[in-house]
Amino acid sequence: MKTLVIYTSKTGFTQKYARWLHEDLDCDCLPYAQRHIADLSLYDAVVFGAGCYVGRIRKLPWFKRQLPSLSGKKLAVFFTGAMGPDPADIQRLEWENFTPRERSQVRIFYLQGGLNYAGMTPLDKALMAVFRQTLKASADTPDKRVTLQNISHSFDKTQRENLAPLEEYLRS
Ligand SMILES: Cc1cc2nc3c(=O)[nH]c(=O)nc-3n(C[C@H](O)[C@H](O)[C@H](O)COP(=O)(O)O)c2cc1C
Repeated sequence: MKTLVIYTSKTGFTQKYARWLHEDLDCDCLPYAQRHIADLSLYDAVVFGAGCYVGRIRKLPWFKRQLPSLSGKKLAVFFTGAMGPDPADIQRLEWENFTPRERSQVRIFYLQGGLNYAGMTPLDKALMAVFRQTLKASADTPDKRVTLQNISHSFDKTQRENLAPLEEYLRS
């Protein structure tokens, strides 16, 4: 099984998972910026990885545009985020980012990342500040207060074991 991973990562979480995949599967792995050097037709499996920003998986429209020429291949998307692996939240994001047809073509995996304030652009830092303010104004439940506390600082929840379902899919 010849596998290619193309990933985009703003603050390092998706990159970490992509590099672990590269090591575990001995597959090719390219950052999104170098995607043009790969001939996707040469691969049996193509994986796209990206972070989720304000509910949207970054650069996913590019991957979706490749789908017609990738039929017959094993296809997967993994996306990283700060949220915990709650099945209802994950399903909501999958439904918001993929049509039913796309979901039948591509296997989707959520891998928890974290937050890296030091690595964020000024705009992303400002967006997070707005998000924290909004949450603070409505932090009327224990759940919301915990979320607010969690996102007030950097954290890293990446775990190599999180890749197991994706790797099993790619090896099968
Ligand atoms: C502006 C902004 C918006 C974000 N929106 C979400 C989100 O909607 N859901 C989520 O789970 N995480 C969200 N995050 C957290 C990122 O998805 C998380 O840090 C991700 O692992 C980043 O991956 P990357 O560093 O590889 O780009 C957001 C982070 C920032 C800075």
